[in-house]
Amino acid sequence: MSNGPVLDVDHVSVAFAGREVLDDVSFQVQASEFTGLIGSNGVGKTTLLRSVLGLQRIDRGEIRVNGAPLSRHARVLGYVPQKVSLDPDVPVRARDFVALGLDAHRFGFSRRTKDERQLVEQMLMDVDAERFADTRVGSLSGGEQQRILIAHALISQPSLLLLDEPLANLDPKSVEEVVSLLHRVAKDHGVAVLLSAHEMNSLLPVMDRIVYLTNGRAASGTTDEVVRSDVLSTLYGHHVDVLKLHGRVFVVAQPSESDVEIPEHSTLTIE
Ligand SMILES: Nc1ncnc2c1ncn2[C@@H]1O[C@H](COP(=O)(O)OP(=O)(O)O)[C@@H](O)[C@H]1O
Ligand SMILES: [Mg+2]
Repeated sequence: MSNGPVLDVDHVSVAFAGREVLDDVSFQVQASEFTGLIGSNGVGKTTLLRSVLGLQRIDRGEIRVNGAPLSRHARVLGYVPQKVSLDPDVPVRARDFVALGLDAHRFGFSRRTKDERQLVEQMLMDVDAERFADTRVGSLSGGEQQRILIAHALISQPSLLLLDEPLANLDPKSVEEVVSLLHRVAKDHGVAVLLSAHEMNSLLPVMDRIVYLTNGRAASGTTDEVVRSDVLSTLYGHHVDVLKLHGRVFVVAQPSESDVEIPEHSTLTIE
């Protein structure tokens, strides 16, 4: 593996019907780094992740994974999509669902080898899912399902794990558990984690890097470098304030502006 970035998004633009959703977006992600892709609904987070996966055609720019263009490297990517509905009636146990992650890159069905079975058990342990390994995936809670989806994506040992809003719809305790699990995945396994979210506060304790997306453009760096009034005002194209209260960060603009980001569950009132 090269010593360069695991992911290099290099001047990427994507337009839908002539409207640029991503406009000259550039950032890099390094091994072992936890990166938050942060932006309100509709700013292009899913479009960007799908572009990295090669599922979305890009109009300009280049995306390199471990130094090479995408197509030949699907194997090094793990992906947890935004909306996964696991039907309670599907008779697939959590353990089997994790094992299915081994099959993404091979054709047909084959019996598990002993090594593969051991790998599945190790994965279940890594995501702290042994307790519900024999439960049907559709019967699990949101947080338990996320852990199984993460194990499913990680079992092929990708160098880059992409997760699209995995924290949406989770209760605060599950959010904390999934965030700390992903932090461990980055630090202990050297995986580069790129996670999209419309709310950054739950990620502040673990985020090495933030990619803040708005108006099709991105600012990236550490949170201290990016989540500042001057940087975000330039990105938004109008003045925004960054308020830090009790270890939480709020990005606020004048109430008349259309893209004010008012965090969920916030007790802050903006007059
Ligand atoms: N396949 C598509 N065709 C046309 N417009 C699309 C398509 N995919 C996404 N969009 C539009 O691009 C914008 C960004 O969408 P998306 O990437 O899903 O944002 P996010 O994930 O940040 O909520 C939205 O306005 C959405 O309607
Ligand atoms: Mg999305």
